[in-house]
Amino acid sequence: MLRKILKWTGGIIAVLITGVLIFYFIMHIMVKNSRDKIYNVEVRMFDIPSDSASIAAGAHIYATRGCGDCHGTDLGGKKFLDEGPIGRIYGTNLTRGKGGRPADYTDRDWLLALRHGIRKDGKPLLVMPSYEYYKMTDADLGSLIAYLKSATPRDNETAAPSLGPLGTVLSGIGQIPLIPAEKIDHAWQPGTPIAKGPTAEYGQYLSMSCTGCHKPNLKGGESPIPGGVFVRDITPSGNIGKWSEKEFIAVLRTGNTPDGRSLKNDDMPWQMTSKYSDEELTALYRYLKTL
Ligand code: HEC
Ligand code: HEC
Repeated sequence: MLRKILKWTGGIIAVLITGVLIFYFIMHIMVKNSRDKIYNVEVRMFDIPSDSASIAAGAHIYATRGCGDCHGTDLGGKKFLDEGPIGRIYGTNLTRGKGGRPADYTDRDWLLALRHGIRKDGKPLLVMPSYEYYKMTDADLGSLIAYLKSATPRDNETAAPSLGPLGTVLSGIGQIPLIPAEKIDHAWQPGTPIAKGPTAEYGQYLSMSCTGCHKPNLKGGESPIPGGVFVRDITPSGNIGKWSEKEFIAVLRTGNTPDGRSLKNDDMPWQMTSKYSDEELTALYRYLKTL
């Protein structure tokens, strides 16, 4: 009897292990195929400015869209994630220094990265959230690139991205937004540029950079960062429904909420939102109130 039970449990364990291995193998192949895919997209070119007003406008965009969280405030590159089983991903050095953009990095390559999430060799960039940026107006994107091109060179060679077994499975089942290029409409064409001002319309434009964490409907949900805290609802069904414009602006400037919580910058990047102008925060508030 005992022998029979042992034989059966042994059989079941063997089947389970084989199942897990087959599952992992499928995930591995799936993720590898999407990483190796070559994208042939048409990059719509426009003139990138180089005047000082554009560079200053680009510096504000860099500081308010979270670029520094992954690429460093000095643009020299920074660790995004380095956890054995998940993987190792660094925001690359964006300057002309050692380990940064090569000498033959062109305006087309900047646009390829920011509008399409694709690297110079046609393969998709990992994690780089271009789906939040590709709908920027030509004027804003042009200023941003002008700023990136003008950056002081930093020497910093970061490790090439690699994925561990857990990272592979999490990406395979869609728990990590590994390949932003898959979420981008590569044929997108800009319409009439949105006028800057304290309007809901401009707020909607700015809210693109909140959608990666707060989800496209801004109602929040599970964090896109493995192990991250639950992302809150920022539509009127959440606290936005109760907070005045002044209170909302104070939350995004200080991280302190009217109900006495202190948001951690690692969870909700309020140090980034603190750099938004009054006009931009008002626009965001007015837009969120319409949802
Ligand atoms: C969540 C982290 C994150 C944020 C936020 C982020 N990036 Fe990235 N970015 C990355 C990573 C990681 C890579 C490298 C991906 C790779 O090598 O596969 C990258 C790559 C790039 C590249 C392409 C470099 C190359 O090798 O061709 C550019 C350009 C870039 N980022 C600019 C920006 C700018 C500008 C912003 C803000 C508007 C920004 N990034 C925001 C993570 C981020
Ligand atoms: C990197 C992810 C991330 C980004 C980007 C982000 N948020 Fe958040 N945000 C969070 C998380 C997580 C919380 C919840 C933190 C907590 O509960 O402690 C939060 C909380 C908030 C809160 C407080 C809500 C409440 O009820 O307490 C507001 C307001 C907010 N975010 C607005 C914004 C706006 C506006 C943007 C875009 C300009 C933005 N967030 C971008 C992750 C993010």
